[in-house]
Amino acid sequence: MDVITTVSELRKRLSYEKSVALVPTMGNLHAGHIQLIKEVKPRTACLVTSIFVNRLQFGPSEDFNRYPRTLESDCQYLLDAGCDVVFAPNEQEIYPTVQEYTVDPSELQHILEGAFRPGHFRGVATVVLKLFNMVQPQIAIFGKKDYQQYLVLKDMVAQLALPIEIVSAETVRANDGLALSSRNGYLTASEREEAIQLYQQLSTIKNAILSGNRDYAHLEKMATVFLNSRGWQTDYIAIRAQDHLREATAKDTRLVVLGASKLGKTRLIDNLEIELS
Ligand code: PAJ
Repeated sequence: MDVITTVSELRKRLSYEKSVALVPTMGNLHAGHIQLIKEVKPRTACLVTSIFVNRLQFGPSEDFNRYPRTLESDCQYLLDAGCDVVFAPNEQEIYPTVQEYTVDPSELQHILEGAFRPGHFRGVATVVLKLFNMVQPQIAIFGKKDYQQYLVLKDMVAQLALPIEIVSAETVRANDGLALSSRNGYLTASEREEAIQLYQQLSTIKNAILSGNRDYAHLEKMATVFLNSRGWQTDYIAIRAQDHLREATAKDTRLVVLGASKLGKTRLIDNLEIELS
């Protein structure tokens, strides 16, 4: 496995490959990231994982500075997973000058996560487009853990006619159901125990909908009140159509329930897809 930090070295290394797949990450890898690698590995000659904590997608009061940077252990993990190339550039390499040209995603960037993290999806789309240009993969994979991010990037590739297949991977969870996330490391022991309540509320909503409940506003409100009564600060619990996260109507059969809530200083997000027959 090669660990590469510059675009020029990367281009040289990839020039003789028949096909390239990219797994973009911000590092501090866990089994969720490794799942992405396992899913695309059989579909490519060369698998590249990028590790870059992208300042552009963090708000001014967010955790950019304290985001965990663990390159050495990440590389060990990637070697074991069968990664061929790690692209771990520094900020100067990705942003040698102030990034003035940016990707402005569709209306999708302003709802749900976007409403609470203004500019976040512009930062994500911009860095991912740059990574695509640097790596020039035929396939890239994203986790459904970040459902809205996956939709934004899938749309970007379609609307800008990029010759890249976007693949999604299911959310990997801990045994108790908590979605794996680099931010789980911020949780204290007691918060870690409490953290599963978000997943459990989403599961409760999913089960209610599968049992025929269509009062989405009430279900969203109940979960929000429940979490907040236990000390969470909930940004949203939302039942939406999988298609562009439109407001769900009683006619929609492909739904997703998404949630974002703060436990102490840690903001957690999760979602569950719901298929009605
Ligand atoms: P990061 O949070 O490191 O996540 C990298 C990829 O791993 C994303 O596609 C994310 O959805 C996926 N992922 C994270 N946790 C997962 C889990 N529990 N199960 C399945 N997949 C999971 O998302 C980013 O980085 C950045 O925004 C990035 C796309 C790299 C752009 O900077």
